[in-house]
Amino acid sequence: MTKKLRVLLRSNADHWAALLQSALPGHLIVTDAPADTGGDDTAYAVVGKPPPGALPAMAGLQAVFSVNAGIEGLIESGEVPAHVPIVRMVDEGLAEGMLEWVLATTLAWHRNLFTYREQQLEARWAPLEEIVARERRVTVLGAGHLGGRVALWLARLGFATRAWSRSPKQIPGVDCRFGQAGLDDAVTGSEILVNLLPLTPATENLLDLSLLSKLAPRAVLINGGRGRHVVDQAVIDLLRSGQLRAAVLDVFRDEPLPEGHAFWRQPGVYLTPHVAAPTHARSAVAAIAANIRSFEAGSPLAHVVDRDRGY
Ligand SMILES: NC(=O)c1ccc[n+]([C@@H]2O[C@H](COP(=O)([O-])OP(=O)(O)OC[C@H]3O[C@@H](n4cnc5c(N)ncnc54)[C@H](OP(=O)(O)O)[C@@H]3O)[C@@H](O)[C@H]2O)c1
Repeated sequence: MTKKLRVLLRSNADHWAALLQSALPGHLIVTDAPADTGGDDTAYAVVGKPPPGALPAMAGLQAVFSVNAGIEGLIESGEVPAHVPIVRMVDEGLAEGMLEWVLATTLAWHRNLFTYREQQLEARWAPLEEIVARERRVTVLGAGHLGGRVALWLARLGFATRAWSRSPKQIPGVDCRFGQAGLDDAVTGSEILVNLLPLTPATENLLDLSLLSKLAPRAVLINGGRGRHVVDQAVIDLLRSGQLRAAVLDVFRDEPLPEGHAFWRQPGVYLTPHVAAPTHARSAVAAIAANIRSFEAGSPLAHVVDRDRGY
């Protein structure tokens, strides 16, 4: 029987549907919302932020595929019935994008590029102490699909790299710590802190005054995870006191960042508009289609979210 896959995306739904149709020619790909009259026969949904009521209306749903790696919004919405697996986006394109963004920002701060730009605007010639990567302590919070790759490459560049995760990890050249007991050791004295955790009840507001105060003086925070990991006021206070040199932020509590938010004008804040690792339709569709094909051949779905852990 032909299975129906519904694409519920606010932008580019037709493009995604066309790519999915050529990757899964035996499936019926549709982009309209399910009828609320009952009897809907959708097997799979591909979603970002689905319209309220759409997922509960799909009575025979077998899986929900998120086009995002972060799925906290889907869990918090309560829209995915408990028996329906949520599959998060795990895709090479995402990992490559995040690696580029973190390496670009880390190297820029390691080599003082933003500081020299500030000095240039004052026509000031003032060489700073330049150290090699192995003398620079960097910590990556989260050592999964994205954080694990980032930590590996930071270590390959020579940075004295630590990584922190929930369970023990082995990453070549990286000092790996895990669990609540390993957090202090992971961050204390770090000069660059990269956050790539998922947003869960255990990680929300983790980057607060207490944790950020454990970094080296004049440390740089790089947040590519979620805005709600960070206590905004703590970042502002620590920038004002000089304990933090800079905060490079890609993600925010409210997006777009509200006009009046202090981050817009706070010296030391460098922001990008949630572009660190965009989902690339072509590689993402290939990942979803491969997962569906192997599921229909009898294998379990890959990358199913553990709702108790929250990621
Ligand atoms: N800015 C952007 O454009 C962008 C794009 C994509 C993703 N993201 C963000 O990046 C996040 C990470 O993505 P991912 O694909 O790397 O996720 P992932 O593969 O699930 O990895 C998550 C990592 O965080 C660790 N972790 C989770 N909860 C923890 C806790 N309570 N204590 C310590 N470590 C914990 C996990 O530990 P274990 O390894 O032990 O499980 C794992 O190493 C996403 O959730 C999303 O929020 C942002």
